[in-house]
Amino acid sequence: MRAVRMHAYGGPEVLQVDDVPTPTAGKGQVLVEIHASSVNPVDWKIRSGGQRGLVRYRLPRTLGLDVSGVVVAVGPGVTRFQVGDAVYGSPNHTEDGCYAEYAALPEAQLAAKPAQLTHLEAAALPLVGLTAWEALVRKADLQPGERVLIHAGAGGVGHVAIQIAKARGAEVITTCSAANAELVRSLGADRVVDYRAERFYEVLSDLDVVLEGVGGPVRDQSLAVLRRGGRMPSIVGGFPAYTKRLGPVLGPPAALVDIAAFMVKARLTKGVKVYQVMRPPRGDLLEALSALVEAGALRPRIDRAFPLEAVAEAHRYSETGRARGKIVIAVRASDQPQ
Ligand SMILES: NC(=O)c1ccc[n+]([C@@H]2O[C@H](COP(=O)([O-])OP(=O)(O)OC[C@H]3O[C@@H](n4cnc5c(N)ncnc54)[C@H](OP(=O)(O)O)[C@@H]3O)[C@@H](O)[C@H]2O)c1
Repeated sequence: MRAVRMHAYGGPEVLQVDDVPTPTAGKGQVLVEIHASSVNPVDWKIRSGGQRGLVRYRLPRTLGLDVSGVVVAVGPGVTRFQVGDAVYGSPNHTEDGCYAEYAALPEAQLAAKPAQLTHLEAAALPLVGLTAWEALVRKADLQPGERVLIHAGAGGVGHVAIQIAKARGAEVITTCSAANAELVRSLGADRVVDYRAERFYEVLSDLDVVLEGVGGPVRDQSLAVLRRGGRMPSIVGGFPAYTKRLGPVLGPPAALVDIAAFMVKARLTKGVKVYQVMRPPRGDLLEALSALVEAGALRPRIDRAFPLEAVAEAHRYSETGRARGKIVIAVRASDQPQ
């Protein structure tokens, strides 16, 4: 089968289309014929070596943490799926990923693909959807009528987070550039702050929840706009200017010290609870997102689709930081957008 593998840490050019053996489904796994995958910033953070201190991979390695496809074989002990089922999910970091024609994946990390979504749309949802769900629902426990600020509302996580927050009855404020204001309003945002024209921390205050997805100085500025006792799920690490020099010296432990210090500061100064969010690679949680899709409350937006051979180009586009919704990989010719 064809798989796009990284052969070294570096720029997009380290990604190559290789001919590799098709995997077989092990215990508790299903073999998925992949129709689509997607690009997430973590893919190029891994590829460039930025996460090397946290996770070290044996190379060559297939990246890609989203999948939509069809089960073509089941391993021993599989109970939830059978051959022919359409599935989607965001499998774990520890296994080879989904920039490939097939992957053997744990059934626990998959859910039935909602019939309302094409494979391209379904591959756009799992990683960002699980992240937004973990942040807003499982950590911040967002309630109807609460006011939530979602940073980067036009991006992969943000555009799904807006829809989840609206479905929970919250009042949604989001940041984006002027060109994306109409897009985020169409997703349900009640108020849009063009972060290039106004400083959000000068025009917002007393919010219940902030979903922090930008990092750097935005983290402290976000603390300022929360009410006393508010909640801040954060999906990014990253140092503000005053601790930036720690990073290169101490490596990943510096990030952990920095996050812990910020958590203590937020709690002591404003009674704010900060949650460091990691996407859970769980099929059962994905079913909650499927229910929203089926109810017509959630639909991922595709910005651009690239064929499997063009994953490197898709990474280049993601690295511009200007995606509007999701960048997806169409693995089979039948799934290329018309
Ligand atoms: N912890 C986890 O498990 C987890 C999971 C998923 C993602 N993440 C991290 O979360 C971050 C966002 O991920 P993503 O997939 O949403 O990225 P993305 O799709 O690449 O985000 C692109 C969007 O960011 C917006 N943006 C850039 N700078 C901004 C700023 N200063 N203020 C507001 N919006 C800004 C851009 O909008 P404009 O063009 O309008 O500026 C663009 O629409 C990444 O760092 C990613 O690695 C973490």
